[in-house]
Formats: sequence, C-alpha cells, structure tokens
Amino acid sequence: MYGMLLESIQHYVQTEYGEDVWNKALEESGFKNAVFTTHQVYPDRLIPKLAAACSKHTMHTGDQKDDFLCFFGRCFVRFFTHYGYDTLIRASGRYFRDFLNGIDNLHHQIRFSYPKMQSPSFYVEKEDVGGARLHYRSKRSGFGYYVIGQLIQIARTFYDLDLQISILKDEEDGNGSSGCHLIYDLRFDNTPYQLAQTARRNMIEHTDLVPVSCVYLFQLFPFAIAFDRTMTILQVGEKSRELFGGEEMVGLAVETFFLMHRPRVAFTWENIYILQKVVVELECLNSRFTKHPIADRRNSASTRNLLLKGQMRLIEEWDAIIYLCVPLLSNLQEMQEVGLYLTDLCLHDSSREIVLAGWQHGARLE
Ligand code: HEM
Repeated sequence: MYGMLLESIQHYVQTEYGEDVWNKALEESGFKNAVFTTHQVYPDRLIPKLAAACSKHTMHTGDQKDDFLCFFGRCFVRFFTHYGYDTLIRASGRYFRDFLNGIDNLHHQIRFSYPKMQSPSFYVEKEDVGGARLHYRSKRSGFGYYVIGQLIQIARTFYDLDLQISILKDEEDGNGSSGCHLIYDLRFDNTPYQLAQTARRNMIEHTDLVPVSCVYLFQLFPFAIAFDRTMTILQVGEKSRELFGGEEMVGLAVETFFLMHRPRVAFTWENIYILQKVVVELECLNSRFTKHPIADRRNSASTRNLLLKGQMRLIEEWDAIIYLCVPLLSNLQEMQEVGLYLTDLCLHDSSREIVLAGWQHGARLE
C-alpha cells in the first residue's frame, strides 16, 4: 500500500488528536518513529492496525476502530487536494452518480504515478432517485469503513450532498484470496438520474435515422467481440480475428480466448452486465502473440499476454453484449510483435497516437 494514504492519516491524527496519540499508535502498530513517504510501499494491514491503536489511545469515549477507519477515509479526501487530485474528482462527473460510476476509472488514470498499485474496484449495480447501490471489491480486507469515510467526504466537499451509507453485505472475495466484497446502500438526492433518464428517452424517440447493419458496426469497431448469455462468441471484428491468426472464434466460449484482467471479478454474464460503465481489460489467450498458452497461464502470475481495453455494452435487440475494445499497445515494437500495423488501428480513438508517442519517447531516451 502506497505511503500517500498513510501520510494523510499521520497529518490529521497529529493535527486533531495530538502528537502523543500518533506516536503511541505508531509504536503499537510496529512502526515506531516512522515517517511515511508518498511513493514508498507499506504493509496493507498497517491502516487497520493504526485505526485500532488510535481508538485505544484517544480520550474520546466511543471512538471505535471503525469510526477511525471512517475518519482516515475522510482525511484522505481532505489531504489529496494538496496533490491536485481534487481537480481529477471534479472532472470525473457533473453529478455524484457520475463520480460513483467513475471511481474505478480514477485509479486507472493514476496508475502511471503508482505503478505497483493494486487498486480496488467499484461499480454501481443500480440507482434510483433516492440513491444507489455500490459494490466495492479489493484484494485487501478491513477497508470497508475507510470507503464510507471517503464517500461521505467527497459527497460533502465536491457535490454539497449529505450522504447516508449502510453496508448491505460484507464478505470475503469469492476468488479464494484474502480480499473482500462489500455492497453499500447509498442514500442521497439523486434527481439528476431522473433527468438523465428522461433525456435519454427523448433522444431515442426523436431520431429519424434508420438503424445501421451489424456488419457496419463491426467495421467501425474492428476489435469488437459480441457474446451471448451463455458466454459464447456470436461475432468478432476483423482485426480481432487476425489477432487470433484467422482462427474461427464464433460458437466457441469467450473464455477459450480471454481471461478477465480488470476489474477483479469472475468472467460471467451477470458480472459483465453490471460493469457497463467501467473500463474492462481482457487478457488474450491463445492469440498468435501469446506468451503463455491457456494451460500454463492459469497457474502463473508471471508476464502477461496482450491486453484488450474497452467497454462492455448490452445490445438489447441481440440479447448479447458487445465488447468495444482496442489492444493496449504502448509502442511500435509491441504493435509489430502482435502482427499489427498502424493502419489496423482505428482513427476514431487514440491508439495510433499512443503507439507513436511511446515510440518517440523510447527514441528520445536512446
Ligand atoms: C484521485 C483520487 C485518488 C487517488 C490519487 C487514489 C490513490 C490511491 C492509491 C495510491 C492507493 C494505494 C493502492 C496501492 O498501494 O496498491 C489507493 C487505495 C485505495 N483507494 Fe484510492 N485514490 C483516489 C480516489 C479514491 C476514491 C474516490 C475512492 C473511493 C471512494 C478510493 C478508494 C480506495 C481504497 C478503498 C483504497 C485502499 C484499499 C483497497 O485497496 O481496497 N480511492 N488509492
């Protein structure tokens, strides 16, 4: 866990509870006299330990460990303004509901500053005018109340909202790791949701354009992959097919070719259905470029294969999901290794620029 989270805790515990409480909490957590730095990595359990220690050493009765975790979460939000991350939050959406849908993508955006980051995953399962239901998954456990603190502070500071939160479910992650899966019920004034729904309906009703063919859709998105409820591939774009050496993919299980890389959830229809507003990365197995064939890869955490990055969208008329994606390539060499050329990459996204920028950066370093 990166030190930035600990720095925020140190700053506000010292300011609001005093130096003495902080020093005792540190000592009890096994980090006597430690000074935390932003980009150093510390043990994951340290924050829950500090919360327990603080609750023991404060004079305020009733300050339990969970209250401190919540306080730590609020501290983080107050603190990250010093790093300019408030701008990122403000830019993430017009309404609190937009922010909630984008938390997962926030961590993704800052991954270059924190390359060893193992970010949590958030997604909104459903929403109504009075709030939303939010899922939080992490490889870590013990941060459930920390998240509550973060959300309350963000709602207050950036959206002027009074947020009420209750935990509906708190269980271990089903992936056999030590992680967690929590479901929160968030209550807040979510009238923008209603407005968005009405606007969407109006837009659909007021178009005179005829529907486009699915052949054309797959030309527009040449890496796209469509699959049905049984997770069987229905159609793939031309470039995806080329990546897999022209192999016939239609009719085969999606899992024959892809592994869920991000977010950390099982690759099932139910999970994909609710992840429609989150960036999804799939790892390609059995492609021409595969470093680790499927049999080896499943047991290995070593170098991964080519990743596809994009968005899953339900197409109601097909009762299928289409994965609108592009290959994640950071320079020309990677692109050539996969057997692609610049002209294979779409003009309507930034894949070409990214590949060329990566190459220019490499050339400058040389
Ligand atoms: C732009 C603002 C943000 C920055 C810069 C940021 C950065 C980070 C970093 C560096 C970590 C440590 C990860 C690691 O070391 O592996 C982290 C963890 C975490 N972040 Fe964020 N984060 C931001 C916003 C948020 C928001 C809005 C939420 C949720 C409301 C959130 C929830 C968490 C949680 C719960 C953890 C730690 C526990 C876990 O891994 O499950 N973060 N964040």
